[in-house]
Amino acid sequence: MIERMSNLNRSVSLKQKALSVGSPRVVGSPRITRRSWNSRYVLITIVLGFVLSFFLAICVRYLYVLPSLTQAFQDDSVSHLSSDSSCDIFDGNWVYDYGYPLYNASECPFVEQGFNCLGNGRMDNEYLKWRWKPNNCDIPRFNVEKVLEMFQNKRIVFVGDSMSRTQWESLICLLMTGVEDKKSVYEVNGNKITKQIRFLGVRFSSFNFTIEFFRSVFLVQHSWAPKRGPKRVRSTLKLDKLDDINKEWINSDVIIFNSGQWWVPGKLFGTGCYFQVGNSLKLGLSIGTAFRTAMDTWSSWVDTMINPNKTRVFFRTFEPSHWSNQTLHVCNVTTEPLSETRGKDTSVFSDTIFDVVNNMAVPVSVMHITPLSSFRSDAHVGVWSDKPNMSDCSHWCIPGVPDMWNEVLLFYLLRSYKHTSAK
Ligand SMILES: *[C@@H]1O[C@H](CO)[C@@H](O)[C@H](O)[C@H]1NC(C)=O
Ligand SMILES: *[C@@H]1O[C@H](CO)[C@@H](O)[C@H](O)[C@H]1NC(C)=O
Ligand SMILES: *[C@@H]1O[C@H](CO)[C@@H](O)[C@H](O)[C@H]1NC(C)=O
Ligand SMILES: *[C@@H]1O[C@H](CO)[C@@H](O)[C@H](O)[C@H]1NC(C)=O
Ligand SMILES: *[C@@H]1O[C@H](CO)[C@@H](O)[C@H](O)[C@H]1NC(C)=O
Ligand SMILES: *[C@@H]1O[C@H](CO)[C@@H](O)[C@H](O)[C@H]1NC(C)=O
Repeated sequence: MIERMSNLNRSVSLKQKALSVGSPRVVGSPRITRRSWNSRYVLITIVLGFVLSFFLAICVRYLYVLPSLTQAFQDDSVSHLSSDSSCDIFDGNWVYDYGYPLYNASECPFVEQGFNCLGNGRMDNEYLKWRWKPNNCDIPRFNVEKVLEMFQNKRIVFVGDSMSRTQWESLICLLMTGVEDKKSVYEVNGNKITKQIRFLGVRFSSFNFTIEFFRSVFLVQHSWAPKRGPKRVRSTLKLDKLDDINKEWINSDVIIFNSGQWWVPGKLFGTGCYFQVGNSLKLGLSIGTAFRTAMDTWSSWVDTMINPNKTRVFFRTFEPSHWSNQTLHVCNVTTEPLSETRGKDTSVFSDTIFDVVNNMAVPVSVMHITPLSSFRSDAHVGVWSDKPNMSDCSHWCIPGVPDMWNEVLLFYLLRSYKHTSAK
């Protein structure tokens, strides 16, 4: 079940009231054909009188009712904007905003070097100054105190691939701007951020919360090949079994999943990794079907293992890349966002995620960041990574687009915790 924008009944009913006050539909020309002139005059007089007194009544209503309506709108303006049912926060565009970026990656110890583009020599910085603006509402400006308070005593968990790790790093850096004693924020095992590490947990000790990352690029179990399989099969993905570290994910307050980047022939068949369901190898299974099966496994795990009264569940959709030619590794990072998405605003992975989530018992919010990210050919790490001789049009600079993914996440969370007493 996808969590839709919940209507704030108050503002909706106010809007309806305002609508009926503002548009008196009664003023239509009465149809009076095939009648005598006399009766027409009588009728017109009656109708005119009727209409006039109606207008008078409306004027009076405006005078007395409107001020209180305006007042109510002002009182409720923030929640009205953010919970208007007509607002799809993923439908919008990027607007230039001097208020960005929200932090300096070189001053945040949790940014891995490979994503700190400015620190790695990127000279243009216009790419840092864009904010996502939904067409019919606003994402409230990031307020670090509010978020630190909301996260108190909580456990926030990211599960997925390197894109998840980027968002994890971004969220920590966003929050560190509000922490005075930077030493009070630390990785619980003293580990450094590396690409292969399976678990990272950063604790904000003054606020008693942790933000964790579990590396699970497929979400399902990756294991050695069965003994009597073809030679080319070196490992398998068990599509019917969730990753064996799944127990670690259960007792979280907020959990954000992603997957998709690794579901490509090169990373699967190219490395000798094939699909398995139960005890049987599925050599002919297409990647799309396999992803769907894995997502079904994921959804039944969530439906049986997650207590929706405690845990808010999110799935982030596919993060588009902007290669000029991925086979040849040609990657041209632009200096400005694209003006059109060139078809990158949709993805079969994103479609599958929506499809699966629609049929679940536990509410899952789909963070549909595919369209908004698809404009941002200017925001990839390019050659400003830790591997400068290999341009990269998949990963993202931070600060940058992953900060916006977090602003979307926080938009959902602030609303969710505001509308329930459960903390
Ligand atoms: C970010 O911080 C570093 C280290 O403190 C500093 O050298 C650099 O000028 C800062 N960058 C920006 C854009 O403020
Ligand atoms: C810290 O948060 C945990 C829940 O994550 C809670 O059980 C514990 O009581 C909190 N500690 C303090 C000192 O508030
Ligand atoms: C969640 O809360 C509702 C209402 O308080 C309750 O009826 C339901 O049993 C709870 N579900 C679980 C899994 O605890
Ligand atoms: C990428 O380059 C390869 C090899 O030159 C070529 O066959 C392919 O058509 C190119 N792809 C695109 C999308 O241009
Ligand atoms: C990439 O940029 C370089 C230099 O700006 C340009 O020469 C080249 O044609 C561009 N390639 C593509 C595929 O856009
Ligand atoms: C990039 O440079 C590193 C060492 O600096 C080297 O090991 C690697 O092979 C190079 N990669 C490419 C694609 O040139």
